Amino acid sequence: MEKQKWWQKGIIYQIYPKSFMDTTGSGTGDLPGITSKLDYLRDLGVGAVWLTPVYPSPMVDNGYDIADYTGIDPSYGTMEDFDRLVTEAKKRGIRIVMDLVFNHSSDHHAWFLESKKDRTNPRADWYIWRDAKPNGSAPTNWRSIFGGSAWTWCEERGQYYLHTFAPQQPDLNWENPEVRRALYDAARFWLDKGVYGFRIDAITYIKKPMEFKDGKPDGKDGMAGVHFMTANTPGILDFLREFRREVFKGHDLFSVGEANGVAPDELKDWVGERGVFDMLFEFSHMLLSFQEGEVWCYPREPLAGKPLEGWTPSDGWKLTELKRALSASQAATRDNGWYPIFFENHDQPRSVNHFFPKGADTKKAAKAMATVLLTLRGTPFIFQGQELGFANVGWPSIEEYNDISSHGQYEFALKEGFTPEQAMGFVHLFSRDNARTPMQWDATVNAGFTSGKAKPWLPVHDDYAVVNAEVEARDPDSVLSWYHKLVQFRREHQELTAGDYEELMPESEEVYAFARTLGHSRLITVVNFSLNEVKLPEEITRGRAILLSSHGEEAGAVLHPLEARVYGTCQD
Ligand code: GLC
Repeated sequence: MEKQKWWQKGIIYQIYPKSFMDTTGSGTGDLPGITSKLDYLRDLGVGAVWLTPVYPSPMVDNGYDIADYTGIDPSYGTMEDFDRLVTEAKKRGIRIVMDLVFNHSSDHHAWFLESKKDRTNPRADWYIWRDAKPNGSAPTNWRSIFGGSAWTWCEERGQYYLHTFAPQQPDLNWENPEVRRALYDAARFWLDKGVYGFRIDAITYIKKPMEFKDGKPDGKDGMAGVHFMTANTPGILDFLREFRREVFKGHDLFSVGEANGVAPDELKDWVGERGVFDMLFEFSHMLLSFQEGEVWCYPREPLAGKPLEGWTPSDGWKLTELKRALSASQAATRDNGWYPIFFENHDQPRSVNHFFPKGADTKKAAKAMATVLLTLRGTPFIFQGQELGFANVGWPSIEEYNDISSHGQYEFALKEGFTPEQAMGFVHLFSRDNARTPMQWDATVNAGFTSGKAKPWLPVHDDYAVVNAEVEARDPDSVLSWYHKLVQFRREHQELTAGDYEELMPESEEVYAFARTLGHSRLITVVNFSLNEVKLPEEITRGRAILLSSHGEEAGAVLHPLEARVYGTCQD
């Protein structure tokens, strides 16, 4: 077997710096805060940390609107703080991975400020400018991903500019070689600082179609989602191959692209030997609740139009659909490329609320999800708080939400004819703020996230007295202890990092079961996603010892609700 790379064997932990640890008392997290928690991450067995953007930004989209690609936002600290973080992390065997947001910049970026002045300035062509239609309206009917038109009028220049996301996030013009060169330079700046790789944001949108045409309306607003019009457009791979050549060549680093719109059968052009990245985040298993292709907007039948009271996302799809999506991704990366396993990130609701039935015990659900995460084939990504069993929040009114996309989703739902209560229901289920509440370090005020008097920028979840790192570290039955156990188990069993994947019990709507086989050794993971007891078939249990069970007590022939187990090789 070919030797595996560090990022294939390791575990990656995603940090949302604004919510991780505040050392200045400002109410928002900072880089010294991350440095102060590196021992916690080392103890968890983390090999690399993916930092969401820490660059200077007006923070309209919490840093995904970048005003300077080679700086640090003062609210996070200084460049010295960043250098210290890289050095201290390295001492603990942890590599830092940065987030590159290259589809768009902030409208406060110097490039945009210049570009918008007139049609002849040196950067006039750095963004995507178009004339109005003869009646003065936007060039096309495209709806931005955060809601509203994807075009904003600029009085100064007398033209519209395109933004796939918020108006404050104008799309860069990748057709212009100077733009590409400037972006590659920015990436190399961070490599020179000792960063080990990149997560590359919204990368499937960088190539726009040759012609800009109206799309078929997919909502009552008469608009067409911009992602239907611009995601994964022919020619994109030429840009990305150049990017790879210019930035990655000669470095031992890793890359993972965020890739909405790339189907599993296209993966061979994107990852592996002939591809451009090492891994690709694709979302087939995360978007089961939505109408086809829609992101963050509109739950699919039978959910759309129903009262949302008592509803959970998993009411909208069957476990077999989730399993099929995961197995398809496993198959697509079997011989080529590598799979990033994730069930949470800063854009998604918490997995305990996303993938389990209403009424599921959060702690058990968190352990069940962890078992899938750490025993599937690929690199596990843990999102901060997931290892503690964080759950969604549900604030009463839209004004309490910070997430720009939640506001767009709310407005969109109202326009579609949903009641304000139903619109809030969508927000509760899918708001990105669910993932962004502050880390819960201990049971003291504000969960130890901030030392100061300032209020945390988002409220701390009210379960913090029980769900927090300090309490859980002391409790052998906690979610955190289960993570530690699984991480250790993964380290000791090469089947999990290098073995093949095979789905078992594919028809079951209650249990996700799969085998990981390396040579003669075969581990079997079984996870009960339901609230029922399930008797496992003999083919799975006979002659096999239970090596791990989340149920704690003596595990018998019957799988308890939400129980996760790993069986060892058959001894018959
Ligand atoms: C990606 C990020 C998301 C951000 C968007 C625009 O999807 O993950 O947080 O809002 O891109 O940059």
